[in-house]
Amino acid sequence: MKNAQWITGKNCIAFQKKFDIGKDAVAAKLWITAMGVYEAVLNGNRVGNFVLAPGFTSYNKRHLYQEYDITPMLKEENELNVFVGDGWYRGQLTWDVNNRNLYGDRCAMIAKMEITYPDRTETIYTDESWMCGNGPVVASGIYDGEIYDARIVPMFDQPAAVLNAPKQQLVPQDGEIVCEHERIRPVKTMLTPKGEKVIDFGQNLTGYVEFKTTAKAGDRIVISHAEVLDKDGNFYTENLRGAKQLLQYTCRDGEQVYKPHFTFMGFRYIRLDECPENTEFTAIVVHSDIKRTGDFVCSNEKVNQLFHNIIWGQKGNFLDVPTDCPQRDERLGWTGDAQVFVKTASFNFNVNRFFEKWLADLSADQKEDGCVSDVVPNVLGEDHEDGSAAWGDAAVICPWQMYLTYGNKALLARQFESMKRWVEYSAKKGRTHYGDWLALDGEKGNDRGLTDKEFISSAFHIYSMGLLIKSGKVLGKDMSDYEKRCSALRDQFEEEYECKTQTEHVLALKFHLTKNPQKLAAELAQMIKENGNRLKTGFVGTPYLLHALSENGYADVAYSLLLQEEFPSWLYSVNMGATTIWEHWDGIRPDGSFWSAGMNSFNHYAYGAVADWMYEVAAGIKIDENAPAFAHIIIEPIPDARLGFVKASIDTVNGKVSSGWKWENGKITYEIEVPTTATVRLHGDEIQAGKGKHVFCYDAPVQAK
Ligand code: BGC
Repeated sequence: MKNAQWITGKNCIAFQKKFDIGKDAVAAKLWITAMGVYEAVLNGNRVGNFVLAPGFTSYNKRHLYQEYDITPMLKEENELNVFVGDGWYRGQLTWDVNNRNLYGDRCAMIAKMEITYPDRTETIYTDESWMCGNGPVVASGIYDGEIYDARIVPMFDQPAAVLNAPKQQLVPQDGEIVCEHERIRPVKTMLTPKGEKVIDFGQNLTGYVEFKTTAKAGDRIVISHAEVLDKDGNFYTENLRGAKQLLQYTCRDGEQVYKPHFTFMGFRYIRLDECPENTEFTAIVVHSDIKRTGDFVCSNEKVNQLFHNIIWGQKGNFLDVPTDCPQRDERLGWTGDAQVFVKTASFNFNVNRFFEKWLADLSADQKEDGCVSDVVPNVLGEDHEDGSAAWGDAAVICPWQMYLTYGNKALLARQFESMKRWVEYSAKKGRTHYGDWLALDGEKGNDRGLTDKEFISSAFHIYSMGLLIKSGKVLGKDMSDYEKRCSALRDQFEEEYECKTQTEHVLALKFHLTKNPQKLAAELAQMIKENGNRLKTGFVGTPYLLHALSENGYADVAYSLLLQEEFPSWLYSVNMGATTIWEHWDGIRPDGSFWSAGMNSFNHYAYGAVADWMYEVAAGIKIDENAPAFAHIIIEPIPDARLGFVKASIDTVNGKVSSGWKWENGKITYEIEVPTTATVRLHGDEIQAGKGKHVFCYDAPVQAK
């Protein structure tokens, strides 16, 4: 890109280059990116299938460009049109409407084309010979949707101007591209009590609708998007806060098909605010091109629906960065949410490259003192106090998980300094932070729970330091100083902190911060039973809760929590009709009213972290830390009579592993298939198993149904 120039124009959103090529051209490539989000159209055909290219990065430090093979698209006379929308680069980000133009206020693009002939190459760069003008996308925004006038024929009537802007931040595409996936037809069209026409797609999803209509020039189609209906069955948009999620389309004459270009929405329902009768809608699911790898099924249909919701929570929030939610005026790469869910994410889908990219932004945005921004890319601004415990720990937890699940040692090596700097930073006491975010044991109206913040801070500091030590050892580094520091901190922990809340018990158990795990586990189990087999944990405690129980002899209590249907529980939202994971345990209350309008997402993947327990404990598929990437596997299922059968599989980088069991007529039959070797632990036996299928049968213990 060195010789290409950034080009811009007055209010322009479209650029054009006409060029001829010789008959003997054998290949052609295009390298391109934009300040904003772009779509390139060559001779009337869209180049590539990257939606919202170049994606969302810390543009001032890492601005990705893409490479496309355009050989089959070329003619002798060519026309390349490039349309640019505001996107994350220039559009509003966060709930503050003035938080715009974060990376720059100009719309611009940069490109290079290389045409290969048998004896030479020709190169075309962006420069002032390109033209610019306006296109049919009149306005667009990540949160607000798109305004499109199909009557507008793009006009490229002004010469583009060269923009003197830096280029050293331009780097080749390094993550997964974002693209279209499922196409979903409406399941129901209804008239709500308010008399509004609403279409239900049956699934809360992230993407947009495509519509087909026959209309007269000037007819309008206006479509609103929502995740839920309220208790009266009316279309509900208050939880979107400032995000409009609105399509405003002006028709041209005749038959036409449209889908938005520079936005996405989180929705299950659309409301036809203005729409000709004969219009047909299809919902298109959009997310990063991550390959599905994990599956889980059991005898309980509600648990299966929960797993479905977890998968859809991930699809809905893995859109170039791991977002907290896809609908309201956030959609940001909140670090806490990402670390909570990363293990589950890595079993469900191959997210290796996805996290490689995001972690590059995390370290690019990391501050001099090692502080990690609460959202990555960091768009919260200088006034925001970053570096919350359990949020910034994503800097350590995520690369370590990529190493465990995929054996990505190169990533560990790349991130090691960033991990170390975070661990040093996190030694600081008295940091501000989110606590056990959304836990239910806080006072009414308090969204941070009762768990002591300093407890969380110290516990995560020790945990992350432990992972740093392991990482260092994998990389052949001397970690003895850290080992001494870490064990001293561990020894002190119990003197300094007392376990009172569920989450405090969970962290002390999971992070090995107690000399008396049996006592703490018994207390935790007792607290849960006294609460009617119900949890009180938030973002910090929930992901480890079932593990803390099952690792310490209380798998039955863990299953009771998994199978609990009353509020608060995972199956409560399933009973309330959820098709994704909710942000709040009580997003919708039993009487149908909402927890709040302000912060109530119905597609927030964090609590979906329970799936890692379903894979690892219910089905028993575990990573052996000494042989990552499932090069050797631990199979250690813990069955429960309340589920008649369980079966899970993960398509690992070493092949597919599956494990399941059936509890029938007083017997438990285990069926396991491993692609490598496994240590199988069943009923106190330890069996070394080779590649292939294995079946084991045991007498079932007596267990109350
Ligand atoms: C987000 C969360 C995030 C949190 C920080 C919220 O607004 O949606 O998921 O982790 O802020 O506490």
